[in-house]
Amino acid sequence: MTDRYAIIGHPVAHSKSPEIHTAFALATGEALVYERLLAPLEDFRGTVDAFRANGGRGASVTLPFKVEAFNYATELTTRARLAGAVNALKFDGTTVLGDNTDGIGMCRDISKNFGVPLKDAKILVLGAGGAARGVIGPLCDGLPQQITIANRTHSKAEEIANQFSGAGPVNAIPTADLAGLRFDIIINATSASIGNQLPGVAASCFGPRTLAYDMMYGKGVTPFMQLATSEGARAVDGLGMLIEQAAEAFLLWRGIRPTTDALMKKMRGG
Ligand code: ATR
Repeated sequence: MTDRYAIIGHPVAHSKSPEIHTAFALATGEALVYERLLAPLEDFRGTVDAFRANGGRGASVTLPFKVEAFNYATELTTRARLAGAVNALKFDGTTVLGDNTDGIGMCRDISKNFGVPLKDAKILVLGAGGAARGVIGPLCDGLPQQITIANRTHSKAEEIANQFSGAGPVNAIPTADLAGLRFDIIINATSASIGNQLPGVAASCFGPRTLAYDMMYGKGVTPFMQLATSEGARAVDGLGMLIEQAAEAFLLWRGIRPTTDALMKKMRGG
């Protein structure tokens, strides 16, 4: 039987993951099928149990199940434990390994695909929810000069900064205090773009040498990207992160890292 993999979410119909992993399988010659699996909101566990019983070897996990996937795993990678969320599961008998490849995927996109070094960078992370928590650890691994977290609810930014204080130079500041500061990389890890809203950030934070990175993909040019562009910054969306996190999950499952350049170009319409 061909090895089965799936993206599990709710909703999941919009997911690009089957297209991405099918391209990876073709390019690497790995024999696998990758499908979409819509889990009922109240039965993530039952859906995964059934998938494993029917030959499932691994799964990507998307909203709103990343914390449930964390709880489902019997073993966790360090980065998944730090993130408190899992986006890739690997099944091996009774063992379920939970990993989080979102952060490394984004870091790879920023440094490799966009050529912006993390080392010594001044980084601003907007947001203090699951998406932000998932990227702080891998950003610290890139040895930046400073990672500043700013969030609408400041106490949550402080909480994350405290949690990661041992991992790198992480601090939290109120969004109102951002005016006058300038950053090399600004990451929108809020969910504001979903509602076409601008997260709280001062225009002066962006400059011509700033990379403005919206983790969102599929929303076109978001208000965050618009503001960044109007201040002369380079603004990009999260397509590269999506592809790179998938490549890292593929490596976890198959022991081979697919190259991403050709697929990136194709999905960007190039
Ligand atoms: P996710 O898993 O996508 O991070 P989440 O855990 O619900 O989702 O977190 C959403 C984040 O986006 C939070 O930091 C939230 O700010 P609050 O902590 O103040 O709720 C932020 N957010 C959502 N909508 C926003 C908006 N319109 N402007 C600014 N921040 C917003």
